[in-house]
Amino acid sequence: MKIETLRWVDNKLEMIDQRILPASFEYIAYDSAASVAEGIRSMVVRGAPAIGVAAAYGVALEALRLQDASLIDFHSGMETGFVVLERSRPTAVNLFWALQRMRAVWIVARGKSSAAVAQRLLEEAHEILAEDIRINKAMGAFGAELLPDGARVLTHCNAGALATAGWGTALGVFRSAVEVGKKIFVIADETRPFLQGARLTAWEMVQEKIPVTLITDNMAGFMMSRGEVDAVVVGTDRVASNGDVANKIGTYMVAVLARRHNIPFYVACPLSTIDMSIASGADIPIEERSVDEVKGFRDYHWAAEGVKIRNPSFDVTPAELVSGLITEKGVVLQPDNAKLRALFE
Ligand code: MRU
Repeated sequence: MKIETLRWVDNKLEMIDQRILPASFEYIAYDSAASVAEGIRSMVVRGAPAIGVAAAYGVALEALRLQDASLIDFHSGMETGFVVLERSRPTAVNLFWALQRMRAVWIVARGKSSAAVAQRLLEEAHEILAEDIRINKAMGAFGAELLPDGARVLTHCNAGALATAGWGTALGVFRSAVEVGKKIFVIADETRPFLQGARLTAWEMVQEKIPVTLITDNMAGFMMSRGEVDAVVVGTDRVASNGDVANKIGTYMVAVLARRHNIPFYVACPLSTIDMSIASGADIPIEERSVDEVKGFRDYHWAAEGVKIRNPSFDVTPAELVSGLITEKGVVLQPDNAKLRALFE
């Protein structure tokens, strides 16, 4: 089954509503930057590369919406659109990467009519989507070489087709390994509190008929101590220039456990997720989400009323715990600043 997380239909962006998966499979249509920003904020779409693609379409939609306005209104409306999108979520750098790329296209196209600018921006959004799938497949091919036939691979959160324009980063590695004939057994962490592992990764792997076992997050150490995990592959929301990796809360625990048990810990990471402007993971903004996500799930709350709750949504795994970054340019073993710089030369 081909999962189209985002698709362009009748001059609108449609995105799978990931909040209600796997119980329901529905698309929601978007027609402006503000509505796309709300879709990102409320987690209809999530996952770093998918957020970037959605933001690119948000810019194009805003231009299409404003193309008949006066030039002044077109320009000020576009600036507002960029700001609204920038404020939707803070951690995944792909959002800012995509907005910068769209802004650069807008600047070059500025002399043209608003309708021509809008078409050019739409073309760029389509290209960002197509490119994301190509990049995931390239990463998948490099990553697949790292996994032995029969590997039992643990993953955290969802870094699959649903987190990208298609194929996936970490789950893309599993898909590519299976495509070249390897047997892969996925162990999916449930990923409290938003349950991306239980709801999304498990669903994707079941659709794909890749064997998958679901565990709660606190079972990973037990599985490793029993010799039941051969490798860990996760995605990332932002990698600092020294190789520190921000990913879904709980990833750091998995990395520490993997090191304790001599299990390789790989991070599938397109170059658009590497932020060379920051020195280390300490500079990565960590989103704090609503405490309601920790209190319970949806309308059911089990936490004691009145208790203080924290909900940091990401954590940072220091570069020293990362065995390798799987990028579209190849695998960077033991990443550091010099090796990451070389990727962009
Ligand atoms: O809060 P989310 O669901 O957007 O967090 C997603 C993750 O942490 C993913 O692991 C990451 O974006 C990589 S997706 C290819």
